[in-house]
Amino acid sequence: MEIQIENRRPPNASHVADVLSRELGFGRYFTDHMFTARWSQEKGWHNAKISAFEDLHLSPAAAVLHYGQALFEGQKAYRQVDDEIAMFRPRMNARRFNQSAQRLVMPTVPEELYLAALERLIDVERDWVPSGAMQSLYVRPFMIATEPLQGVRPANEYLFAIILSPVGAYYSQGFEPVKIFVSRELVRAAPGGTGAAKAAGNYAGSLLAGAQAQAAGCEQVLWLDAVERRYVEEIGAMNVVFVIDGELVTPPLGGSILPGVTRDTVLTVARDRGLTVREAPVALDDLLDAITTKRCTEAFGCGTAAVISAIRSFHVDDREVALTEAPGRIAEQMFRTITDIQWGRGEDPHRWRHMIPRRP
Ligand SMILES: Cc1ncc(COP(=O)(O)O)c(C=O)c1O
Repeated sequence: MEIQIENRRPPNASHVADVLSRELGFGRYFTDHMFTARWSQEKGWHNAKISAFEDLHLSPAAAVLHYGQALFEGQKAYRQVDDEIAMFRPRMNARRFNQSAQRLVMPTVPEELYLAALERLIDVERDWVPSGAMQSLYVRPFMIATEPLQGVRPANEYLFAIILSPVGAYYSQGFEPVKIFVSRELVRAAPGGTGAAKAAGNYAGSLLAGAQAQAAGCEQVLWLDAVERRYVEEIGAMNVVFVIDGELVTPPLGGSILPGVTRDTVLTVARDRGLTVREAPVALDDLLDAITTKRCTEAFGCGTAAVISAIRSFHVDDREVALTEAPGRIAEQMFRTITDIQWGRGEDPHRWRHMIPRRP
């Protein structure tokens, strides 16, 4: 499908330079343009275009506002050492977007349209990709049901859009281990639910536990399984990896866990290095025992936002189980290897970098 470019604004170099010189944070600034495409039962995908970043016009009856048919993705574009722009494994996000769509009975986006939209929009906005340490352009594709509601059923009209935001390093103090709050009471996702999809509602449902974590002086929530409250699932909006008896262990996919791109990357890099990787259930009690007996030497979250987030301690039932003060060796190595690929500093044996072509 042809992507139209409407009213392209010439880049305002001094405005872009001014914004990029500020503390970028996360989602504080957005670029000048966005991508949108519409879907309807009759026409399928149509009206794919790049136009000015502006507010959406939406019926107050739009199904998304009532029944929450909404999903999103989170990926990044990185300025390379040679000034070109690359994405990291964007097809994995395209596939996960479509898996989420299927779970929420929304239309899938042809992978080639998804990629073409990313490439065209990022190319138009390439000046917006920051060049500071650990800075990148956050890419947020999303889809919402726009049809005015007619009862609880899948809508017949959707909007697929992509917006871009220059972002800074995730942790202001660098690569600092974080405190984790074990949520016994609240759960993120149940078997048969939407946990393996990037459904917007999953994140609304996670906010209360996030607030409890903060109140306990912790940065992130550790989610347990919804049935037995016994097995570790994820950490905040990250997958979680443990180093136990020298092996990498992470909870298996296939249920309520989001299949992370970074998770797959970490496991692949670990296997490349000859480390033993096990995708196996991790019971909280066994984990705490392995920490106290020093068999568990490292634990870290992994996700697009922070790449690797080492875990300092677990706050569980009002006690603190300390793991490490400084990031462990494997967390450090993973962080360095993956960020070197993302920013174009290191070898890319699996061809994970996806260069953004320049178009006139
Ligand atoms: C719930 C959840 N788990 C895991 C992840 C990590 O996934 P990825 O590595 O693809 O960013 C994310 C972030 O996208 C998430 O929201």
